[in-house]
Amino acid sequence: MKRIAVLTSGGDAPGMNAAIRSIVRTAIFHRLEVIGVKRGYCGLIEGDYAKMNLGSVSDVIHRGGTILGTARCRDFFNEEGRQTALLKMRQARIEGLIAIGGDGTFNGAAKLDNSGMPVIAVPGTIDNDIACTDRTIGFDTVINTVLDAINKIRDTATSHERIFVIEVMGRNSGAIALAAGLAGGAESILIPEIPLNLEQVVSNIKRGIARGKRHSIIVLAEGLANSLDITKQIEAMAQLETRLTILGYLQRGGTPTAQDRILASRMGAEAVYMLLRGERNKMVASKGDMITSVDIECALLQKKELNFQDYKLAGILSR
Ligand code: F6P
Repeated sequence: MKRIAVLTSGGDAPGMNAAIRSIVRTAIFHRLEVIGVKRGYCGLIEGDYAKMNLGSVSDVIHRGGTILGTARCRDFFNEEGRQTALLKMRQARIEGLIAIGGDGTFNGAAKLDNSGMPVIAVPGTIDNDIACTDRTIGFDTVINTVLDAINKIRDTATSHERIFVIEVMGRNSGAIALAAGLAGGAESILIPEIPLNLEQVVSNIKRGIARGKRHSIIVLAEGLANSLDITKQIEAMAQLETRLTILGYLQRGGTPTAQDRILASRMGAEAVYMLLRGERNKMVASKGDMITSVDIECALLQKKELNFQDYKLAGILSR
């Protein structure tokens, strides 16, 4: 193998740049040429490629977003789009691809690999909703971002003796809400994996007030329900002033934490080694402190388990 390509696709995540840097520098160290593909699979189809060198990834390790740009590319999900991409890659003498992203990216990666191009997937999404890996790049940063918001909201919640609902990202997953809620001491964590019980939420609030609490923080994952409706219902049931904060897209940005940079550096390098070893249709995965290789299918066919132990613990500790 002489020339490989790298792209980022789907929602961006802090640490993607650290992964790109690791891929480019590991590959060059092992005498591979690296092509950067712009705007995910859309750039792959259009042949929007640029050769990368050691300097292309200077000064990016601390930056959020992705220097390659990203997209959710509909055209790649039809056979014609993928065949065009394959042709363009062959014309550019690309022999393997590393795709950084979430489940949508992995779907495309598996299909491209099945059409004849070796592909290695790297899990990069703030959602941490990919099965067969403990962590995805960006998750540690987002929970710290949300935690910072919870701390700030707690100040005003205490001053005004108000209840706050904080909506966080996670289309189908409560992973961000659970981790940030546990770390932030939320009174209730509302996530799609657990049936909604507003009576319980209100009873947690009342119990807290009875023992002298002056605030109540409820962290809600966007995938559960309409957060404004939930906020109004809580206010009506508890008969207490309740406010909603939707954190939105600020959760996707920011400088990556040390943990995310380390994870991204390790995963990026391993993706290159996997291509060099002739592996294909695989995902780089983290298991504890180890980096391993698993079939992309594993990530695509299984649903990531929620940490129910943490959910139970958060309930006990917030009393
Ligand atoms: O990056 C993952 C994610 O942030 C989800 O939690 C969210 O629902 C989604 O992306 C929204 O992203 P977009 O508007 O870019 O499709």
